[in-house]
Amino acid sequence: MQVLQTKQDLISEVDTLKIDTLIAQHQDIPGALMPLLHSIQDSIGYVPESTYAPIAKALKLSIAEVHGVVTFYHHFRTHKPGRHVLQICRAESCQSMGAAALEAHAKKCLNVDYHQTTTDEAITLEPVYCLGNCALSPAVTLDEEVFGRVSAADLDALIFEARSPRVRV
Ligand code: FES
Repeated sequence: MQVLQTKQDLISEVDTLKIDTLIAQHQDIPGALMPLLHSIQDSIGYVPESTYAPIAKALKLSIAEVHGVVTFYHHFRTHKPGRHVLQICRAESCQSMGAAALEAHAKKCLNVDYHQTTTDEAITLEPVYCLGNCALSPAVTLDEEVFGRVSAADLDALIFEARSPRVRV
């Protein structure tokens, strides 16, 4: 089953093959939508909108159902992320410990809003809602590694590290 591509959503041949393989692996499994979406995002970093139709066909769902699930969960991305993903917790404990100032600092430093990627494609900024690290609020993740009691200076260091090709590629 070939994944269709639009101009805005060009997917490499390698990623297309990965998606097609994952869809084939899940198509006969009852209730496979969520596991399949997770598999696709884990594999290529996001769930392209062009996958909705082949997923729907394989799982005998409507495209609207697939779209509804992808857009309901904040976890799923519909656009290719940067080389690194920086998430800032916006839940209650972190909010009470300065997360709003931290997110303003991140947006200013990176010159992006949430769900956007820096022009050098190094970092995608995302909100997240509780990382289970409330005792060490405010918390952030960089590529799924959790950091607690993060100050603006700490965030600057993480951003510098993420942009350094010697440390994280
Ligand atoms: S509220 Fe931020 S880690 Fe729980």
